[in-house]
Amino acid sequence: MKDITVIGTGYVGLVAAIGLSDFGNRVVGADINPEKIARLKEGESPIFEQGIEDYLKRNLESGRLSFTTDVALAVRGSDVVFLAVGTPPKKDGSADLSYLESAVDTIADNTKNYTVIVTKSTVPVGTNRALDERIRSRNPDADIDVVSNPEFLREGRAVQDFFHPDRTVIGTDSPRAKEVLKSVYRALNLISVPFIWCSLETAELIKYASNAFLATKITFINQMANLADAVGADIHQVAKTMGMDGRISSKFLHPGPGYGGSCFPKDTMAVVSTGDDFGVDMTLIKSVIAANEEQKKHVVKVLKEMMGELSGRTVAVLGLSFKSETDDVRDSPSLTVVAELLKAGAAVRAHDPKGADNFRMLLPETECFSGSYQALEGADALVIMTEWNEYKALDMELAAEKMRGRVILDARNLLDPELARENGFTYRGIGRGV
Ligand SMILES: NC(=O)c1ccc[n+]([C@@H]2O[C@H](COP(=O)([O-])OP(=O)(O)OC[C@H]3O[C@@H](n4cnc5c(N)ncnc54)[C@H](O)[C@@H]3O)[C@@H](O)[C@H]2O)c1
Repeated sequence: MKDITVIGTGYVGLVAAIGLSDFGNRVVGADINPEKIARLKEGESPIFEQGIEDYLKRNLESGRLSFTTDVALAVRGSDVVFLAVGTPPKKDGSADLSYLESAVDTIADNTKNYTVIVTKSTVPVGTNRALDERIRSRNPDADIDVVSNPEFLREGRAVQDFFHPDRTVIGTDSPRAKEVLKSVYRALNLISVPFIWCSLETAELIKYASNAFLATKITFINQMANLADAVGADIHQVAKTMGMDGRISSKFLHPGPGYGGSCFPKDTMAVVSTGDDFGVDMTLIKSVIAANEEQKKHVVKVLKEMMGELSGRTVAVLGLSFKSETDDVRDSPSLTVVAELLKAGAAVRAHDPKGADNFRMLLPETECFSGSYQALEGADALVIMTEWNEYKALDMELAAEKMRGRVILDARNLLDPELARENGFTYRGIGRGV
């Protein structure tokens, strides 16, 4: 059993704190946000994630898991400190490391015994080595090792992914730190999760390369879907058949309104920025970023084609989170689409099962309704933006009853186009024909 502090209790840190405690370690989740910590102490999760509250309550009750705003105190009693603070993009696209730097300064000032510092935050290549130097120059007596352990969990399946990762990547050149990490993650070793032991730089790049590749795959199928619409092909058959080729795989071949979320947009920008720093051509990823921005606008463009004029019309938007099963709206394509609709003079009636409150914090002028059919009332058109299950089962007859107009733009291809047309709707998906 290890004494662990996890600094940052957001989507990554909270899941890590709960998971590491469930593995039998003694864990303190530390965060500078007092509101979050107060809720966590009560066993209430500040984020929506499948199954998280059961694990939270169970581990709080076991006495192995606790929460604090006193990061310094938590660090003093720890063998291992995980860093899970945000690394948002700066204006120039590079990663803002100030939260991370502030956290490691606290570690430098408070570490007592040998401490392994494990970076779960996504950081540009070279960051972990720079953090190591930063701590040693601030506290020359510090007995530490800095390890890179990038996180690959998917929001919406974060808890499951923590306990059953496809692989665990650990970048370190310290045999001492390696032994500590083996002990921390013993439970994963027992279920034969592959461990990739590598250098700090390799671990850092594995994370960026993975996210940049997934963003590229999504963007690729989005552009093919737009082409399918233009030439009269069915993107579903195209994607399904492509996916039968083992070299391609069927995952991440679902066309939509563009990728979003707190990772792909910022990580693609950061990898371009790293390329610029090292004088390496990143044309491919630059094009992906630009094409993804276009895809979000493409949704509004198609809607305009379908409706003619947007000004003075009412549009129901179903789905505000960047994907289903999460309340996370950071960089959600819905932010662009709703903002563009409002700018064009349309009224928006929006719904999301979990993300509405977060969305309104970013775009306060959005009118949100608690029920999806409520949002449809009096609407001239419906745009589906997120693949929530409840939208897949949309009752077309009821929708027709509630709405004033008969336009559906299904940006996630959830509905049956025939059924929509039978109910009098003009229907468009992405890549399913015009
Ligand atoms: N969200 C994901 O799906 C995901 C997946 C893989 C990797 N990541 C990476 O993990 C990191 C964290 O992402 P997230 O989505 O969990 O972020 P988040 O914004 O949900 O959480 C970050 C937390 O850190 C806290 N914090 C900031 N500075 C602090 C400090 N000095 N001391 C203590 N707490 C501090 C904030 O209050 C916040 O609660 C990022 O680098 C992200 O790229 C995220």
